[in-house]
Amino acid sequence: MSDYLSLPDLSFPADRTAGIADDKDNPWLTLGIMDRIEDPVLLREWGKMLDLQTRVLGPGEVDWLRQKGFARDSVGILEPGSGDGHYGSYLARCFGNTPVHGLEANEALVRRFDQGFAPSNYNISICTVGSDDLPEQVQNSVDQCLLRFVLQHVSDPGSLVRAVYDALPSGGKLYAIEEDHSFFTTEPYWLPYALATDAWSRVYEHGGSDAFIGRKLPSLLSECGFEVTDYDIILRNNVEMGDDFPKLFSQAARVLHHTAPDILPLAVLKNIDQEFTADRGEHRRMYVATYPQILVCATKP
Ligand SMILES: C[S@@+](CC[C@H](N)C(=O)[O-])C[C@H]1O[C@@H](n2cnc3c(N)ncnc32)[C@H](O)[C@@H]1O
Repeated sequence: MSDYLSLPDLSFPADRTAGIADDKDNPWLTLGIMDRIEDPVLLREWGKMLDLQTRVLGPGEVDWLRQKGFARDSVGILEPGSGDGHYGSYLARCFGNTPVHGLEANEALVRRFDQGFAPSNYNISICTVGSDDLPEQVQNSVDQCLLRFVLQHVSDPGSLVRAVYDALPSGGKLYAIEEDHSFFTTEPYWLPYALATDAWSRVYEHGGSDAFIGRKLPSLLSECGFEVTDYDIILRNNVEMGDDFPKLFSQAARVLHHTAPDILPLAVLKNIDQEFTADRGEHRRMYVATYPQILVCATKP
């Protein structure tokens, strides 16, 4: 059995993709492939993904955030799209003197948040930012905001960014962390990476998530009134990440399979897993492949 994935619970009804990006109930603000997800298996796979992304990518992001003044002299941080709170809890631990207020649209994800294991400066409220009013305890008590892997899943990211703009005082800072599939590359061709990235882009396109949000952030934030002060494209890669790299792509493939099994069938998922497993420990000497991160800091004038 693979070290990257164990493969139970892989069967899904063939119509699993029906309803993705169906905007009848929520015509102006849908959440791409994360829209209203409730299936326990998919929620569990997302839970593993959010945990892995936090552990593997979090430390580098926190270094960057610290350099850019994140949490410095801040009264409170807004974290729309907190998911099940893995990342927000980590962030709140790293910046222990600052309250971090998570806001999450999906109640099923918030139910997976365990306040007992979270630091005391972190909490999550249910709120669809850009659609609902912000909870009272958050109003006038935040001066910074972090959006991590959220804007890629929002059908109308401008509505969300404008709501954040309204919530922050003048001088308030917005930090966004995103991806952009334009910067996926490998040399030479690496089969499991090629299969995983191809499926990733196709499932996003089908489900209404934006695989190319990273390059759009400066114009998006500027159009909403922010002044962009920092913009970095960081190409994480398998040589420096070691086996965390295939683990990340394997887990992404697993989420994508459960999201759209017609696009990423079980046989392809198994192939990705087996090929990554076969290359374990060796891939750093054979390939260079990228995982692109986009980090932005902007100020409300
Ligand atoms: C990929 S998860 C990222 C979770 C967390 N930020 C992290 O980095 O681990 C994106 C989350 O954003 C939530 N979301 C998207 N748009 C939202 C909105 N307008 N208000 C609140 N939550 C939103 C989704 O429901 C989903 O849980």
